[in-house]
Amino acid sequence: MKLLITGGAGFIGSHVVRLFVTKYPEYQIYNLDALTYAGNLANLSDIENAPNYTFIKGDITDAKFLEDMFAELSFDGVIHLAAESHVDRSITDPMSFVMTNVVGTVNLLNAAKNSWVSTGGFDGKRFYHVSTDEVYGSLHNPEDFFTEETAYDPQSPYSASKAASDHFVRAYGNTYKMPVVLSNCSNNYGPNHFPEKLIPLMIHNIQTNKPLPVYGKGENVRDWLFVVDHARAIDAVFHKGKLGETYNIGGFNEWKNLDLVHLLCQIMDRKLGRPEGTSAQLITYVTDRAGHDLRYAIDANKIMNELGWQPSLQFEEGLEKTVDWFLANQTWLENVTSGAYQSYYKGMYANR
Ligand SMILES: NC(=O)c1ccc[n+]([C@@H]2O[C@H](COP(=O)([O-])OP(=O)(O)OC[C@H]3O[C@@H](n4cnc5c(N)ncnc54)[C@H](O)[C@@H]3O)[C@@H](O)[C@H]2O)c1
Repeated sequence: MKLLITGGAGFIGSHVVRLFVTKYPEYQIYNLDALTYAGNLANLSDIENAPNYTFIKGDITDAKFLEDMFAELSFDGVIHLAAESHVDRSITDPMSFVMTNVVGTVNLLNAAKNSWVSTGGFDGKRFYHVSTDEVYGSLHNPEDFFTEETAYDPQSPYSASKAASDHFVRAYGNTYKMPVVLSNCSNNYGPNHFPEKLIPLMIHNIQTNKPLPVYGKGENVRDWLFVVDHARAIDAVFHKGKLGETYNIGGFNEWKNLDLVHLLCQIMDRKLGRPEGTSAQLITYVTDRAGHDLRYAIDANKIMNELGWQPSLQFEEGLEKTVDWFLANQTWLENVTSGAYQSYYKGMYANR
């Protein structure tokens, strides 16, 4: 199995690459990543010399580059995670989300299709597209959950671009009979999370005594899953998921943003030896994000019942692990917050 994983230097992708490189030594794993601001090869320093692992620097918006790479390497499978992923950035710069998430995904579909059609067809091949629950929009009724049948209703430029990419993947499955499978997952948290996102931002700001910016009144509800459990789910969908199907992935673990920030403050006060209640004083309410979805909650029964996947960690346990990781990896955090990790790559690689 020659497997291409895109976006493997990012937060979730790096956990997927690590899992596949260590669990499947008989596979050749190729990690294709453009190393945007969100890509960081330090996330993979523990496996970078593994004999079954190759890093390729390249951009999925470059169709010719993808065609050449597929012609040369003849991949058997693709797990596609590369994306622009931050909602706030999509509000200020939607076009880069269209380019990477929509155009990049269609380029990748074309490259895989052309390579597979010209080398004997789709037998034994698989194109797996990793997506988000944000494509479903916002839930207003407290009893409702997103199922695989929920109609798409994306509300931000990020979720609109991911919804478009999901539609293209399904359209290629339907029109060209390409062997596709998809998953839509809830919010991830854990080690290597880029510190612009809620949980690592709060950990960093608590530690450095900076304000903890909470959007609106902190009422927005998100369903949180430990990133390693998402990687395990991706393993299950890639190997056991039925072609043409979609699997929702989530932890049945809903938290209001404000309650989550309070829980983090408690954990951090304990870890840093501060009197209880100290860090919570840093909470500051800021103007709500434009078009902020109120509640996301995933019904993960299909993947649990059909593929036997279950989250391995309770939320409090996962959050403790995450806080411990950030406190123990200060150099990683400083390199990311200062931007030093990016200058390290300059001139290091040609396109490949
Ligand atoms: N973070 C979450 O909570 C979450 C939840 C569900 C689904 N997802 C999806 O999972 C995937 C990974 O998310 P993440 O949080 O790890 O994102 P991330 O932003 O941490 O990583 C994205 C990676 O893609 C790379 N990339 C960006 N543009 C590229 C391009 N044009 N060509 C090649 N590589 C490019 C970046 O360098 C980076 O390494 C995304 O598709 C996202 O939509 C994320």
